[in-house]
Amino acid sequence: TLSDLKGLKQGQLRLTVITTAKYFVPRLLGPFCQRYPGIEVFLQVTNHEGLVERLNNNTDDLYILSQVPTHLDLCHHRFLENPLVVLANRSHPLVNESNIPVQRLSGEPFIMRELGSGTRESIENFFKQHEIKVQVRLELGSNEAIKQAVVGGLGISILSLHTLALEGTNNKLAILDVQGFPIERYWYVVYPNGKQVSVVAQTFLEYLLNEGKQVAEETAVLKLNEAASNLSRS
Ligand code: PGA
Repeated sequence: TLSDLKGLKQGQLRLTVITTAKYFVPRLLGPFCQRYPGIEVFLQVTNHEGLVERLNNNTDDLYILSQVPTHLDLCHHRFLENPLVVLANRSHPLVNESNIPVQRLSGEPFIMRELGSGTRESIENFFKQHEIKVQVRLELGSNEAIKQAVVGGLGISILSLHTLALEGTNNKLAILDVQGFPIERYWYVVYPNGKQVSVVAQTFLEYLLNEGKQVAEETAVLKLNEAASNLSRS
């Protein structure tokens, strides 16, 4: 349109996303930046707690997270699934079982995300609800490091399915078919209620809500999601 040509869609876009969204948002930025070459993007990746702190300080234009804080006055839009799955080393004895009762996780050596992680909070809620007590062997502040530790045989873990975006379940990592999984979660894009959202941020918001799903489908993560509960059976 004329306004695009006049360079209205020009300027900076400041985003902060939780660690699981880093497997998806940068890819999504590709076509967006191609369409709007005048937009310069600054992307921060942090855990839930770090994001909420930035949100409190009004540091960025938009934020992507999974648990919308209820103590803040926010506008939020849900845009994509962010399910949690149980990951194990391919040689784990539960890999070939299906419909595993969730109690079987009790006592398993477990690799846990750090305090302040939204993933960890969801896991702890789930364990509490089902009275599961795992044996936390290791705490790690990185999804990638956790995957490596699972491959290294240190234990099982629970992570966002999106952490497998590029490799899928290769021959080293398996998704366990545990009852109650995948834990259903979503990504939300949020900003403080009443915040004056810039034209650039508004443009990205619309892009995310209208086309985000399509890009996710292209990256096959959602297909992986469909397959998640079948993988260990195959
Ligand atoms: P986290 O958030 O990086 O704080 O674990 C990710 C998520 O909640 O999906």
